[in-house]
Parts: sequence; C-alpha cells; structure tokens
Amino acid sequence: MALDVLLGLQWGDEGKGKIVDVLSEKYDIVARFQGGPNAGHSLEFDGKSFVLHLIPSGVFRKGVKNLIGNGVVVNPVTLLEEIRGVEKFGIDVKEALYISHKAHLILPTHKVLDKASEIAKGKNKIGSTLKGIGPAYMDKIGRNALRFGNIFMPDFRERYERLKQKHFKLVEMYVKDFEFDLEEAEKEWFEAIDVLKNFKIVNGEYFVNEALADGKNVLAEGAQGTLLDIDFGTYPYVTSSSTIAAGVSTGLGVAPSKINKVYGIFKAYITRVGSGPFPTELFDETGDKLRQVGREFGATTGRPRRCGWMDMVALKYAVMINGVTDLIITKSDVLSGFDAVKTGVAYKVNGEVTAQMPFDVAEVEEVVYKEFPGWKEDLSQKKTFEELPQEFKNYLNYIETETKTPVSMISTGPDRNEIIYR
Ligand code: GDP
Ligand code: IMO
Ligand code: MG
Repeated sequence: MALDVLLGLQWGDEGKGKIVDVLSEKYDIVARFQGGPNAGHSLEFDGKSFVLHLIPSGVFRKGVKNLIGNGVVVNPVTLLEEIRGVEKFGIDVKEALYISHKAHLILPTHKVLDKASEIAKGKNKIGSTLKGIGPAYMDKIGRNALRFGNIFMPDFRERYERLKQKHFKLVEMYVKDFEFDLEEAEKEWFEAIDVLKNFKIVNGEYFVNEALADGKNVLAEGAQGTLLDIDFGTYPYVTSSSTIAAGVSTGLGVAPSKINKVYGIFKAYITRVGSGPFPTELFDETGDKLRQVGREFGATTGRPRRCGWMDMVALKYAVMINGVTDLIITKSDVLSGFDAVKTGVAYKVNGEVTAQMPFDVAEVEEVVYKEFPGWKEDLSQKKTFEELPQEFKNYLNYIETETKTPVSMISTGPDRNEIIYR
C-alpha cells in the first residue's frame, strides 16, 4: 500500500503530465488533488500528443482509475470537451474517470469575475489563465460554492441563481458596466452537467482510503508548482490552491501519515507564465534560445513562457516545503549546446547576500550565479545514465549535493520513452 505524490517545484509546466503518464503504469489510481483547468499537462506517446487540463494523466493507461479529487475546481464544459477528446483515442473515459462529489464547480460567472478582477488590477494583474480559478476558490473558502454533489439536488438551479446574482454585484464592483454575454455559456454549462450526472461521482475520500486499505497504489498528481502555491509561492502572483505536498491531504482526504514518496519535478532551467517576480529571468538571446529549443509556449493559453537559468534558492526551498524524497529533472536535452550553464545560488536583498527565499521575491536586487561548463551532445539520443556527458553528470551531482536529494529520473524529450532511470 502506498500513496506517492508527484508535484512541480517551480512555477509550473515542469513536465508533470509526461512523468505521471510514465509512472502511472505502476499505479492503480492517479488522483488530481488541487487546481483546475488552469493546468495544461502534455503527454506524448506513439507519435501522438494530448494536453490534459482536468483529467488525471493516468487516463491513457489501461486499467488505471483516475480521480478528480475534492480539492479540484471543475468547469463541467471543459471537462466534457476533454472527455470527448480522450475518447477519440479509444479510451473508455466513463469507465476510467471518477469525480469526487466534493469537487467544486466553476460557474460561467467565475470566468467573468476572473476577467473583471484582472482588468481592475490594471498593471498589477496576476496574468491569470482566466479560467475562473481564483473566484471559484474564493467562493469555496467563503462558503458559498456549489459542488458536484449539489447537481443532484432539487434546489440546484436556485442555488446557482443565488450565487450568480451575487457574482453580478461583484463584477459591477470590479468594473462599472462590464459587458458580458452569459446565455450561450450557461446553456452549455447545464447541458454538460446533465451529461456528467451519468459519470461516476463518488465519495473521493472513501474511494482513496479504501483503495489504500486494499493494498492498492495511488499517485497524487499536482498541478501548477510550488512557487505558485497560495501560501509559499511568490504571493500575490500565485494560484489560489495548495500546490504543495500538504495539499494532498486536504485535496484528497488522506492523512499526512499515508504519504510515502514525494517526487519533485523540475526543469533543467526554469520558466514562468503570467506576471510576478522571476530573479533568474533571461531577457537576452539565451532566454530566446531556451524558449525556442524548449518550445516554451503555454499548454493552456499559448502565451510565450518567460525563461531563465535554474534557481537553486527556489529549488532548495521547494524541496524543503514538500519533503521531496526523489527528484526528477526534465528538459535536460534543451540545455545541450550552451558554452556554459548557470544556476542562481544566492540573492542580494537589501544589500545583503542570502540563500533563503525573502518575504517578497520582488525585493531581490541581484542574483549570485554559479557557472558550469556546457555540453554539446544531444541528450535525447541517450538511453542510459552512463552514456550521459560528464559535464551534465557534474551538473546533476551539484543539484543532488545542494538539495541532499537523489535525482532518480532524467527526462530527455517529450515522449513517454525518453526517460533515463538511475
Ligand atoms: P506540466 O504542466 O508540468 O505537465 O508541463 P507542460 O505539459 O505544460 O509543459 C511541459 C512541456 O515540455 C510539454 O510540451 C512537454 O511535452 C514537454 N516536455 C516534457 N518533458 C520534456 C523533456 O524532457 N524534454 C523536452 N524537450 N520536452 C519535454
Ligand atoms: P500546470 O499544471 C504554469 C499561472 C498563471 C498565472 C497564475 C495564476 O500546467 O503547471 P490562475 O489561472 O491560476 O489564476 O493563474 O498562475 N498558472 C500556471 N502557470 N502552469 C500552470 O499549470 C499554471 N496554472 C496557473 O499563468 O501567472
Ligand atoms: Mg502545464
């Protein structure tokens, strides 16, 4: 019996989808515990590719059960579209998908509110994916929200209308006379809910705990990343959920004592979409090269991702916050061909050098870097650890020493098979 966790250690897009797909072979259940359709998890296999937003990344593996946990916020329209997309691959999603009855619903007006809130923030906008995530979690914590379990209740429509009226007032508060058209969106929303009523809507906490008691293996799949966590991320430029290992307990209803391995995944460099501080960001051709070679464009919004050198201050912080037991490095192939590879090792804040995350990362004035000799060989052709260039092994060795955590997997390309185990 084991519940393992896989989560991102940076600002998201570390390659979680790919690695969950690789690992899910060994698990009976894959469960999403937080976030919503702001996530975009890309999978590649047999020459095909797919981006998942809400369905856990175990869905392409036969026999794996995929749970959308109580900690997730779900837009029924997005979910249904995604189900139809996955069905085209011959997958029986109705069989493979389970939805917690305590998962929260994203209403059409949550998306309107997200947009209005960003407009009201002006130049301080978060750079939200505009999927309604922040407003949906506000209603959850504010004790106003609707959950999957509510869709079967006779007063569901009334509750919906009440919440919608409240949203109208809020929109007006953000932006005067904000124009939006709800008619089509509402129609689609209720139609999607009618279809989803026939799916397996379950008591997620019993589902997971009984599976564990039966000796089954469960993998909890994180969305976003540690630096986007509501408590420990670069607040306020974060998402509205607990993206860290502790979020697994509240997002699935499993006790902390049940958590076994914590796989922390990170890119060989670092990226960020949306606004907010980014100490090691590169504004030069090196940054452009990372974006082009790494194809760093958002899987959900298509926005170009901001790119920079790896940040050891942030990585060590994320390893600490999550209690990472195993590191997984992705996109190592993208770093081939640079004369030198750098990592940030300390920050200068208020004139003082520190190796800790400051209260506000925007206060970082300068980054102290360590430079490593680069390597030219194409890593995507390598199949074993021994074949990897010595310079890359030195880079890995440094990361392991600094984080005191082993790197157990090395991803060398987007495909399921492009993976090296240690
Ligand atoms: P996620 O949100 O963490 O699942 O990551 P995304 O799917 O948003 O972004 C990761 C991108 O990198 C996707 O386009 C993946 O197909 C791709 N990818 C994953 N691992 C690797 C890798 O090791 N090398 C390369 N070149 N691409 C990768
Ligand atoms: P995955 O799971 C990268 C970012 C947005 C924005 C901030 C808040 O694919 O790694 P939100 O829509 O949550 O209100 O946006 O968080 N963001 C992500 N960045 N990967 C993601 O998910 C993200 N989900 C949200 O760009 O800066
Ligand atoms: Mg992504």
